[in-house]
Amino acid sequence: MSVEQEVLALREQLNHHNYCYYVLDNPEVPDAEYDRLYQQLKGLEKEHPQLVTADSPTQRVGGAPLGAFKQVKHEMPMLSLDNAFNEEDMQSFNRRVVERLDAPAGEVIEYACEPKLDGIAISLLYEEGVLVRGATRGDGVSGEDITLNVRTIPTIPLKLTGEGYPVRLEVRGEIFMPKQGFEALNARMRAEGGKPFVNPRNAAAGSLRQLDPRLTAQRPLELCSYSVGIVEGGEMPAKHADVLRQLKAWGFKLNALLDVVEGVEGCINYYQRILEQRDSLPYEIDGVVFKVNDLQQQKRLGFISRAPRWAIAHKFPAQEEITVVRDVEFQVGRTGAVTPVARLEPVFVGGVTVSNATLHNMDEIARLDLRIGDSVVIRRAGDVIPQVVKVVTERRPEGAEPVEIPHRCPVCGSDVERVQIVKRTKSGEQATEGAAYRCVGRLACQAQVQQAIIHYASRKALEIDGLGEKIVEQLVELKLITSPADLYRLQPEQLIGLEGFAEISANKLCESIAARRQVSLARFIYGLGIPDVGEETARVLASKLGTLARIRVVLPEILTWLPDIGREVAGEISHFFEDEHNAKVLDDLLAQGIEFADEGELAPDLAGAITLAELIDRMGISGVAKVGAQRIADYFGDLESLLAADLQTLDQVPKLSAKAINGVLDCLDDAQWVERIRLIEAQLLAFGLHWSCEVEQGEQQAAPLEGKTYVLTGTLEQMARSKAKAALQQLGAKVSGSVSKKTDCVVAGPGAGSKLAKANELGIPVLDEDQFIELLREHSIDPDSL
Ligand code: IVH
Repeated sequence: MSVEQEVLALREQLNHHNYCYYVLDNPEVPDAEYDRLYQQLKGLEKEHPQLVTADSPTQRVGGAPLGAFKQVKHEMPMLSLDNAFNEEDMQSFNRRVVERLDAPAGEVIEYACEPKLDGIAISLLYEEGVLVRGATRGDGVSGEDITLNVRTIPTIPLKLTGEGYPVRLEVRGEIFMPKQGFEALNARMRAEGGKPFVNPRNAAAGSLRQLDPRLTAQRPLELCSYSVGIVEGGEMPAKHADVLRQLKAWGFKLNALLDVVEGVEGCINYYQRILEQRDSLPYEIDGVVFKVNDLQQQKRLGFISRAPRWAIAHKFPAQEEITVVRDVEFQVGRTGAVTPVARLEPVFVGGVTVSNATLHNMDEIARLDLRIGDSVVIRRAGDVIPQVVKVVTERRPEGAEPVEIPHRCPVCGSDVERVQIVKRTKSGEQATEGAAYRCVGRLACQAQVQQAIIHYASRKALEIDGLGEKIVEQLVELKLITSPADLYRLQPEQLIGLEGFAEISANKLCESIAARRQVSLARFIYGLGIPDVGEETARVLASKLGTLARIRVVLPEILTWLPDIGREVAGEISHFFEDEHNAKVLDDLLAQGIEFADEGELAPDLAGAITLAELIDRMGISGVAKVGAQRIADYFGDLESLLAADLQTLDQVPKLSAKAINGVLDCLDDAQWVERIRLIEAQLLAFGLHWSCEVEQGEQQAAPLEGKTYVLTGTLEQMARSKAKAALQQLGAKVSGSVSKKTDCVVAGPGAGSKLAKANELGIPVLDEDQFIELLREHSIDPDSL
């Protein structure tokens, strides 16, 4: 094969793999294989630069940064769409279509339905199948030439695949940034001290407007094509939906929600269906678009001013609105954190009326440059709590007041202290720039007591029936309780007469509190409200360490051996249990007769997994990473020999760097360090986790669903979703929120939407609720007892 043939063959293969990956969502080869082919092509092109062509997959990012974008005039103007905001608008749109087409009575119009993606409209011109130009919509008549930037977007083919495409073909669509990529990009921007984007649409626009295509290439952009413009020297199908399907065959990703329906009823139904899925879609949409499917009919309908008569956008409720900040107040949370909250002029956004929005912390206020009286953009997407994303500085009234942190707790009047946000890293604790504010009041602060008790009694924690937030508020206010332990001392007489209580209900509440003296260790740990310890971490602590006694004393270094517990969380856990006040509350709770149904041994997989090398690795020795730690451990064999080491002996350790030797010597000179490592070793021994301990492996049977990932979707009618989740976890399964190739099984109740669709698409087994209950019973879980 000649070099030229080889280059062509490689390009063909790479284009094919790209198509499988981006269009079909079904890669044929692993990424590493793709990378190899890509590198091979790159190598050949480097050796033979005369063979490089613009449509080569290696040429996505190319060209020097531009000074400015060139203007281009669209050969066919890019139009916009009329909007419908309700069913009535849809009915009149359909009526107009029917009348104009003079359709015989009873004939229903066929509509193609698509999601309306919220991004940037784009025109892509292909000549002889090669991408020659990408331009923004601009004002519809002319836009900006952003060819170099669009070339970097992987879902935009540089060369069309397949056959039969017109000599000149203009593909139109929306460039957008998926939600996940948007969150990751913003996290990166924040970490680098930059200003995050307000929403995925702005992020997409900002990314496309980069003059340096190398920057655009780093942004997670995608294309969704929705129509064609110029078609010369070729034929297109006669129906709009078929045009889009034809584009798929030529290399464009087809939106999975494309559908064809009959009449306006079909459209209204589609609108509802997609609205329900809106929050779970991986990208943002602001409505759906309906187009008369028959292109002949489209032609007959024509245009009115700048919009086609054959299409309409049915908009969803807006997720962003402007309103005014009336005030900023401070709330005190469970851990004493003082958080600013914006009190807003009520505004209807994302389907609900919003009158409060969290401002997170003082740094966020500074970043937004927010003042009282400012107009702000509020965003409420999905179930996420409303956010203030931007201040409209142009509308700032005179005398708008800056926000100041109170010196005294707004609830209890105690001092508010400034705490440096601490980051725990391998080499110890490091203060960061960020600051949080905390009320020092603890027990004296009703807000903290109240939040702590509400959390303790909540559904995922102790699940005390009948003890809702309102009741806790009353009990705390009347000083009937000042800690979770007080709950168990409550007498019915104290409750009678309180709002909503009579004799029966008072007795009932006391009984249900008493009934929760028996509880699983994981629920109890979660209920303590340790910062950063959610349900999953609580479960890990309980199942791996087995007893509360161990959890209370375990050293943070040892905690980092547990799955998913990093240094930060380990630090929070130890701080919590070291705290005197927390210790008192805990002792008091135990004195009230709390019993754990499931205390037990250390998890067998934990015992035996711990080696001297890993201990050394966790000790923050400068210059020593995993490999170095292993070398030291191999050489010394036990801790005593390491602690007795000196320069000469360390020099004998094979391949240990001078930096590492110095790092170890520094530590050995540090009495605190030596004491710490001895302490850890002693605890490892006491727990039976030390490498010298005999470990009886394999005694315990693996949980039946160990290693399996389940997804719950839709409504379960016979049990709460949290119970279904708990049951799956009890059987060893992981419960995930989204369906992917890694999902082993989906449990779908009525109303399941996109997750179910995705499971079907990926061929993942789906159980209905009855089958699920049967599965639980097979594994001896009685659903009624959960
Ligand atoms: S069709 C003449 N289909 O919405 C028809 N537009 O308000 C032109 N958009 O500028 C557009 N998703 O950027 C069409 N599935 C879709 C769309 C869509 C998003 C955008 C497009 C256009 C704007 C019209």
